[in-house]
Amino acid sequence: MAFGVGVDQHGQRCPRCPHRVLWSQNDLGGRFVTTESGAAGSSRTMSAVSKRYLIRTHGCQMNEHDSERIAGLFEADGMVPAESLDDADVVVLNTCCIRENADNKLYGTLGHLKSVKAARPELEIVVGGCLAQKDRDLIQQKAGHVDVVFGTHNVHRAVDLLEQSRQSGPVTEILDAAVLDDRELFPSALPARRDVGYLAWVTIQIGCDNSCAFCIVPSVRGDEISKPFGSILNEVRGLAAEGVTEVTLLGQNVNSYGRDLTLRLRSESSGLDPAEVAGSSWATDGRARSLFADLLRDVGAIEGIRRIRYTSPHPKDFRDDTVAAMAETAAVCEHLHLPLQSGSDSILSAMHRGYTAERYLEKVAAARAGIDDLAVTTDIIIGFPGETEADFESTLAVAAEVGYDSAYTFVYSPRPGTEAAELTDRFVEHSVTVERMNRLRAVIERSSVRRNEARIGRVEEVMVEGASKKNPDVLTGRTRQNKLCHFASAEPIRRGSYAAVEVTGAGLSHLTGELREVTHVAQHKRRIPVAAG
Ligand code: 5AD
Ligand code: SF4
Repeated sequence: MAFGVGVDQHGQRCPRCPHRVLWSQNDLGGRFVTTESGAAGSSRTMSAVSKRYLIRTHGCQMNEHDSERIAGLFEADGMVPAESLDDADVVVLNTCCIRENADNKLYGTLGHLKSVKAARPELEIVVGGCLAQKDRDLIQQKAGHVDVVFGTHNVHRAVDLLEQSRQSGPVTEILDAAVLDDRELFPSALPARRDVGYLAWVTIQIGCDNSCAFCIVPSVRGDEISKPFGSILNEVRGLAAEGVTEVTLLGQNVNSYGRDLTLRLRSESSGLDPAEVAGSSWATDGRARSLFADLLRDVGAIEGIRRIRYTSPHPKDFRDDTVAAMAETAAVCEHLHLPLQSGSDSILSAMHRGYTAERYLEKVAAARAGIDDLAVTTDIIIGFPGETEADFESTLAVAAEVGYDSAYTFVYSPRPGTEAAELTDRFVEHSVTVERMNRLRAVIERSSVRRNEARIGRVEEVMVEGASKKNPDVLTGRTRQNKLCHFASAEPIRRGSYAAVEVTGAGLSHLTGELREVTHVAQHKRRIPVAAG
């Protein structure tokens, strides 16, 4: 089956890079969570009566993570992954509404599924995610063949809602806010089925308290709520015990992680254990503050965790304590994804981003001064309403000054309900955004190539992820700076193992190298296929 990884109109996106937006490459669109034969299979044996599920995911890592949890819930209920739509009994479309056209794509896909269901009436169709949260009853009004619609706050109800629809017909359940229960609130507290056994995402925070004028997230994901410190540590300890060595901490604004927890502890005499809720460092100082730096240090101290990544920080909240924790915690990778969005102060102000270009540049300089060999990547939006040529040139200037390792570049798209979508009289002509995008890509590509070439001759630590798609004799993995690195190996190397690779070549979006030695053989307990050498 075609496996749709992320691309946008500007090229291929890696499925593991932070904050990427995934677009369809396959028949119905989206990324599939399903079996690759032998990969991370369910511990349950398949039986003739087990229902088979297929999950199609659009959107960001949060959505992918939700899909893993839905898969985990299904498998806990005895279901098994389907190989394709043809042998699926249940299809879940986990939707995203960040970009334009998501609605058209969803209704197009549902149109196709209608004919599949006409031929196989027992097929059950489920729609979840941000677009479901936004469109609510509209989905079943437009597509009466959909059995279940749920939103972003009730992923944990997937199995129950499916059962409800079997008993009493189509059901839509959308909650307006998260339920204040740790198990229900945080997808990570639900059982998970991960595609691989050595990497894991850990949700540390949900929602967002900011109000960036272009962004739909606060309205679909709700207020920012942090997962208790102790629960995160327990979760990561559990993952490490299963053999996971790399974790990515997920939140919309990770640098404000824990502020809500500390405020709660200070305002309530609730009998909560401060060390459990906010970590042992906080228990000694008790200030209202973010706990993200503490979290990096404490996760980094968990035995077996060799790499920590996180996404995304917000430049306005990114401070020296995070830089110090990154520098002092060996497991934290030397990679900072710091979304710029625009290099123009007036556009940043209209976006309500809370920083200026100068302040952003100071933060990057401080991070580079504090952390050796740091890769810096970003998100940039072109054509925000009112963006002039001079504004755009400021963005080009900041991009050139930072010299990014890579960047995700987005054409502004109005999201209904956001502040910027109202500024219709200031929308930028499409032909102008296309021309600006080409100029921006040229600047980004120059620095990407330069920074990749500068790595030639170094020995890099690569976590092996499998055989390269183009050449099965070549193994591929990621360096600590999150760069793809391809290298040949005479011996098969187990996925999730670490290798020392000397970099011998560099392209726009990858490195090539020669294997020096395998430095750590993966120990994960799940059955993962051996990558061919
Ligand atoms: N238009 C274009 N890009 C957007 N992003 C978020 N909302 C929009 C929008 N309305 C981009 C931002 C964000 C990334 C995940 O998606 O750059 O950082
Ligand atoms: Fe959206 Fe801004 Fe929150 Fe990021 S910080 S999720 S861009 S509102």
